[in-house]
Amino acid sequence: MAQPYSEKVMDHFMHPRNVGEMENPDGIGKVGNPICGDIMEMYIKVKDGVIVDAKFKTFGCGAAIATSSMATELVKGKTIEEALKLTNKAVAEALGGLPAIKMHCSVLAEDAFKAAVNDYLLKTTGKGLPGFKPHEEPLEEHEH
Ligand code: FES
Repeated sequence: MAQPYSEKVMDHFMHPRNVGEMENPDGIGKVGNPICGDIMEMYIKVKDGVIVDAKFKTFGCGAAIATSSMATELVKGKTIEEALKLTNKAVAEALGGLPAIKMHCSVLAEDAFKAAVNDYLLKTTGKGLPGFKPHEEPLEEHEH
């Protein structure tokens, strides 16, 4: 059977970057997909409006692990504003694409990051990320 995943996806799945919990994070985002039960947590450290570190923990499928790994790599060093422009599609593209059936897994990474920023803003300004709402998952079964 042909390998449906790009080399980059396999690389980030086998050797995920920035895995693990962060001590004293400035923001924590936790999101889950109620259908498959996969859960993702993302942690960020912010200094002068710049994301100086990002880490994640994912209990999920390979695509969820690869996208969270890539998402943490892409947001590091960016200002919060720049990093918020990062869409799940951009993360998937940076990984050389994902099979269509796995695109929803990349949504978890985007949502986890936005939830972490939301948490950071709530703690520092008392106001969350304007308009932040995690994506609603389509109510369909999907396979791992
Ligand atoms: Fe659940 Fe990928 S996140 S199958």
